[in-house]
Amino acid sequence: MAFTEFKHPLILDKLTRMRKSDTSTKDFRENLNEIAGLMVYEIARDIPVSKISINTPMGKTYGFTIDMPVVIVPILRAGLGMVSGIQQLIPTARIAHIGLYRDEETLKTHQYFAKTTKDITEAYTLIVDPMLATGGSAITAIDIVKKWGAKQIKFICLVAAPEGVKALQKAHPEIEIYAAALDEKLDEKGYIVPGLGDAGDRIFGTK
Ligand code: PRP
Ligand code: URA
Repeated sequence: MAFTEFKHPLILDKLTRMRKSDTSTKDFRENLNEIAGLMVYEIARDIPVSKISINTPMGKTYGFTIDMPVVIVPILRAGLGMVSGIQQLIPTARIAHIGLYRDEETLKTHQYFAKTTKDITEAYTLIVDPMLATGGSAITAIDIVKKWGAKQIKFICLVAAPEGVKALQKAHPEIEIYAAALDEKLDEKGYIVPGLGDAGDRIFGTK
């Protein structure tokens, strides 16, 4: 199953700013949304479009319109930090929410919220979360989205650990995974190294 690491200079530069420990919450959030938008610009090349007839001030012509609903599924909390960057490019996208947190001791995923959208069974569905660490959260989110009936699902993260990619590929072999960077490893507490720390805390200014 496909794993794509983005190595675009703009993404590398913005991700490096995010990794730095002295980057402010505001800059962290802005760079995260910008990277999410840049990634989706590339990823969305396979969204189907249909030809439509339109009138311009000069007369009749044809144009193109996105032919299927798009649903963004942020994994709360940190996934919320990627939504507006994608919505700026796809303003008609609907948003479904999945609330998960990782137990800091066991690293097991706990679900506290899930709300789908209209038309998800027909939608181009983008699950977003900046961090793919053990893979537990991504696997649970994809389980939920599949239960909702979504068929065309992609998982987009910023930083992935090899352990998480492997676990996700094993659990959901057909799902395409996109990351801005594939990092080295997980540490003994399940944090990605070198990573960027706790994404949720850095986005929301907690801790
Ligand atoms: C972080 C991150 C992922 C998860 C990744 O969320 O945003 O959802 O950990 O780890 P995993 O691959 O080992 O499951 P966290 O549970 O810290 O919650 P938060 O977004 O509310 O901070
Ligand atoms: N969640 C984070 O926010 N950061 C990590 O490095 C791992 C999980």
